[in-house]
Amino acid sequence: MDTDLSEITQAGQPAPPAVMVIFGASGDLTKRKLIPALYNLARQNLLGEHFAVIGLARSDMSHDEFRQKLTEDIKEFATHEVDAELWAKVVKSVYYLPADLTDAQTYEKLAALLAEVDKNHGTQGNYFYYLATAPSFFAPVVEQLGKAGLVEQSGSRWRRVIFEKPFGHDLESARRLNADIRDSLKENQIYRIDHYLGKETVQNILVFRFANGIFEPIWNRRYIDHIQITVSESVGVEQRGGYYENSGALRDMVPNHIFQLISLTAMEPPISFAADAVRDEQSKVLRAIQHLTPEDVLSRTVRGQYGEGKVNGETLPAYRSEAHVDPNSGTESYVAMKLFVDNWRWAYVPFYVRTGKRLPKRATEIVIQFHRAPFILFRQTGVEKLGRNRLVLRLQPDEGISLSFGAKIPGPVLRLGEVNMDFQYTDYFGSTPSTGYERLLYDCMLGDATLFQRADMVEAGWEIVEPILDVWKALPPRHFPNYAAGSWGPKEADELIEADGHEWTKCGV
Ligand code: BG6
Repeated sequence: MDTDLSEITQAGQPAPPAVMVIFGASGDLTKRKLIPALYNLARQNLLGEHFAVIGLARSDMSHDEFRQKLTEDIKEFATHEVDAELWAKVVKSVYYLPADLTDAQTYEKLAALLAEVDKNHGTQGNYFYYLATAPSFFAPVVEQLGKAGLVEQSGSRWRRVIFEKPFGHDLESARRLNADIRDSLKENQIYRIDHYLGKETVQNILVFRFANGIFEPIWNRRYIDHIQITVSESVGVEQRGGYYENSGALRDMVPNHIFQLISLTAMEPPISFAADAVRDEQSKVLRAIQHLTPEDVLSRTVRGQYGEGKVNGETLPAYRSEAHVDPNSGTESYVAMKLFVDNWRWAYVPFYVRTGKRLPKRATEIVIQFHRAPFILFRQTGVEKLGRNRLVLRLQPDEGISLSFGAKIPGPVLRLGEVNMDFQYTDYFGSTPSTGYERLLYDCMLGDATLFQRADMVEAGWEIVEPILDVWKALPPRHFPNYAAGSWGPKEADELIEADGHEWTKCGV
C-alpha cells in the first residue's frame, strides 16, 4: 500500500452522553447485533464514558438476570474475542424493565428509570429508542413515548427513535406510519434503519464513485450498457416463516436493500456529505425509477419459490415444507426484474435485479457492464466471444472490486482473452469483522442521519413495488415451486435477461 491510510482517515470522537433504550430486548436482534455492536464501539473507544442501556421486553427479569443473559450471549455473538474487563464495564451500565408496551404505566416506569440512570451515569437526558419490536408496535410505542414526555427535546438535550425494518407493508401503510409517528416526532428525530447502509462495502460505493476522478466521466449511458444487481442467499427462510409468509422476497428485499444499492449506484454527486444532500440525490433516483404498468409487470418481473433440492448430497426442503409456512403457499422466495431510471444519465440503461433464498451461494454484487468496443481491428481473433469490460463491486461475502478487460494471450498468433484486475478488501485492510450496526448506532448518537432512510425515500420505494404487488396478488402464481433449492432460480429469470442479449454474471467470478 502506497499511502498510510491513517493519514486520510479521521479518528472518531466518543459519542456524546446517551441512554439507548431497546424495545424488544429479549429478541434475536438484540443479542446477535445490537449488544455486540455496542461492545465493538466500546472496544474502539467510541462509546462515551456516560452511556447506558435499558432493555425492555415482556419476560420478568431483574437487571442482574438480564446482565447475566447478555454475558452468555456475547460469548456466542461477539465478532471479536471478549475482553472480560471491558465487557464488565459495558454490562454494568445495562438495565432491564419488564414491560407491556401497550400499557401507559410502562412508560411511567421507564421515565422513572431513565431519571435514575441519568443520575447514575451522567447521561444528561439524551435518549435514543431502538424499536426492535414487531412493526405493529411502532406507532403505539411512539405515541406512548410522546404522551409520557419522553421524546421532548430542549436546549442541547436530544431524543431520537430508530425504527427497524419493515417500515410499512405497502405504500398506504408506510404513509400511515409516517403520519402517525410524525404526530409525536419531528423528521430529524426519526431514524429508519436499513442495515445494508451499515455495511462498509455499501458505504464504499460512494467513496469509490466520488473520491476517484476516473470513474465518474464514464458512469452513464454513453459508456454503460446495463447494470446487474444480485443479492443471493444460500439460506432458506429458516425460522422466520411466520413473517416471511406475509412478506415474500419482494417486500423483504427490494424497496429497502436493493433500492439502496440502486440509488447509491445511480445517484448524482451530492453537493456535500450532509445527510439531506446525500438523501436528496438518492431520493431523486428512486423517484426517477419508471413505474411499471400491469403489462410491464408481466413482461419485466419474475417471481419464484424454491422446491426441494439437493446440494452436496444433502436434501434441502421445499419452501412449502418449512416451519410456519402454508403447505400451499403462494409466497415468492425469489424475484427478478428489469427496471429503468428515467433521467439523462440512465435513460434506456436496464437495471436487472434479482434476489432469492436457497440459491447456490451467498453473494451480493453490483455489476457495471460497459458497452462493447468497436472491435473492427480484431475481426479474425475470435473477438465475438470476448466479454465486455465489466466492473464488479462485490459487497459480500468476499468484499472487493474487480475490472475485467481483454488482453493478448501470449504467443505468435494474435488471440484475445479476458483477464481481471482484482482488489480484495482483506488484502489491504485485513479482516475487520463487525455486525454492521456499529456505524448506524454511532451516527444516531451523533445526530447524523445520512445512512438512514428519509420518509420520502421509503414512500418512493413502496410506490415502485406497489404495481407489482397488485398484479401478483390479482394473478396468483400457477407454477410454484419453480426452482430447486440450491439452483440459481427460475428459468424465466434467465429468459428475462437473455431476451436482451445478456446473461447473469456468475457471482464470485
Ligand atoms: C433482512 C431480510 O432484511 O436481510 C432477510 O429480512 C435477509 O430475509 C437479510 O436474509 C439479508 O441480510 P444480509 O446482511 O445477510 O445480506
